[in-house]
Amino acid sequence: MPADEPFALVIFGASGDLTKRKLVPALWSLFQGRVLPEPFVAIGVARSAMSHDDFRHRMREAVAEFARVQPPAPHVWDRFASCLYYCPGVTDDPALYERLGALLRQLETDKGTGGNRLFYCATPPSLYPEIVTRLGASRIQRETKGWVRIIIEKPFGRDRASAAELNRVVSGVFAEDQVYRIDHYLGKETVQNILVFRFANGIFEPLWNRNHVNHVQITVAESLGVEARGAYYEEAGALRDMIQNHILQLLCLVAMEPPVSFDADPVRDEKSKVLRAIRPIPPEEVDHVVVRGQYGPGFLDGQRVPGYRSEKGVAPDSATETFAALRLSVDNFRWAGVPFYLRTGKRMPKRASEIAIQFWGTPHLLFRRHDPAERIEPNILVLRIQPDEGIALTFGAKLPGPELNIRPVTMDFRYGASFGGEPPEAYERLLLDAIHGDATLYARADWVDLAWEVLTPVLEAWGAGPAPKFPNYEAGTWGPAEADAFIEDDGRRWRPL
Ligand SMILES: NC(=O)c1ccc[n+]([C@@H]2O[C@H](COP(=O)([O-])OP(=O)(O)OC[C@H]3O[C@@H](n4cnc5c(N)ncnc54)[C@H](OP(=O)(O)O)[C@@H]3O)[C@@H](O)[C@H]2O)c1
Repeated sequence: MPADEPFALVIFGASGDLTKRKLVPALWSLFQGRVLPEPFVAIGVARSAMSHDDFRHRMREAVAEFARVQPPAPHVWDRFASCLYYCPGVTDDPALYERLGALLRQLETDKGTGGNRLFYCATPPSLYPEIVTRLGASRIQRETKGWVRIIIEKPFGRDRASAAELNRVVSGVFAEDQVYRIDHYLGKETVQNILVFRFANGIFEPLWNRNHVNHVQITVAESLGVEARGAYYEEAGALRDMIQNHILQLLCLVAMEPPVSFDADPVRDEKSKVLRAIRPIPPEEVDHVVVRGQYGPGFLDGQRVPGYRSEKGVAPDSATETFAALRLSVDNFRWAGVPFYLRTGKRMPKRASEIAIQFWGTPHLLFRRHDPAERIEPNILVLRIQPDEGIALTFGAKLPGPELNIRPVTMDFRYGASFGGEPPEAYERLLLDAIHGDATLYARADWVDLAWEVLTPVLEAWGAGPAPKFPNYEAGTWGPAEADAFIEDDGRRWRPL
């Protein structure tokens, strides 16, 4: 759906990595796809000294390197570039907001962007409260008759208290329906498809409960280490970086009840209810419910790679976890007794994100006498988030031949093969939604708070306990041995990816 209202986007952090790799390439793809309204303007803000033209040139290079859609002809790029502006300044300087306001007013008059203003916080997160407060203190946020919205990048706080504080600052300036807390996982096509799969098909939802589902595994495995972001990761770790946001969002999409409509609040109400139903982790149980790990040196694709503690920006005795696995219980009628196993790690053998729903076996093993040694594999439904996005259902089939032997086979849907082409980037969808005023795929304040609440006992126990014995897994493996023992103690095993 094309956005029909002109607007001005202001990106704080416009000389940074996110703007270069994701935001401007996404804006460009939307422009190319003719779904951005014209006129629009995008104003970049950062400390680096740059003219408007310097900024345009830099964004041209960024688009050439990172955009899904390349510029077809110079005049199309020129038209796009003429909408890009730059306003240098430091976020704690009130004069920046004066200059920014003046530029916005001038462009709104000259370009006719209509007074709709979308702010995007893509600076280091420590600056978000300052940006919000200063926007509030300036006229920028109040003077316009158009709509005003703000997108806030992750991480949203680093624990429950800091997230609550950020929510307090934000809600002092913006109403909740103006605030868009981004989780780019929710912009991925396959993630959006979870709800379509569940609620637009008649055959799966009747099975989607404790009577048919034995357990659920959600895995987000990365083969990369921390690259150049060691200093950031030292402050985060796997639990904060992946589980508190992306993986809990996936869990909510799998576990939620059907919303009354596919609108922002009904969908987000149901997601928050899932978090409320998660059984609190007793502090003394943390070691039984969570396993953490950190990679040491190892091999990936035949190449030797360093351990986490040797990465740039990482302390030589770092206690930051690069792997975490946990078991959560959703205590409600639908999911009572069904464990949700979550795991994420860096420097795993491959990059793969998936949700695997494992069903109960048949009530009676009719075929056992034909192949007594054989264990009949359970049915597993796998929602592949990345790469090779798709959905696969595994079931048992008779192996051809005179014997009655059963082997698992797979019905496989692949996005690429069925729909062709590349799916849009998550940031394209999310930016467009914010321009439309649709917050369905953004996190609401209560969800963020509840997600931190779920993990607070773990963060507190880890903070108070002795330093973990790290490193405890080799780069290029599937994590520490304790993670296998942890799930095997429940009589289950991690799905091989
Ligand atoms: N990069 C990603 O792929 C990614 C993915 C998901 C979320 N995020 C989040 O997005 C945010 C930005 O990440 P990033 O990787 O783009 O960081 P980055 O490369 O370090 O960029 C930070 C930006 O903030 C600007 N900045 C820093 N201090 C400033 C100040 N006092 N006043 C004005 N501007 C200031 C920097 O520009 P100057 O130095 O020119 O001022 C730069 O433009 C972070 O919260 C990150 O967690 C990033």
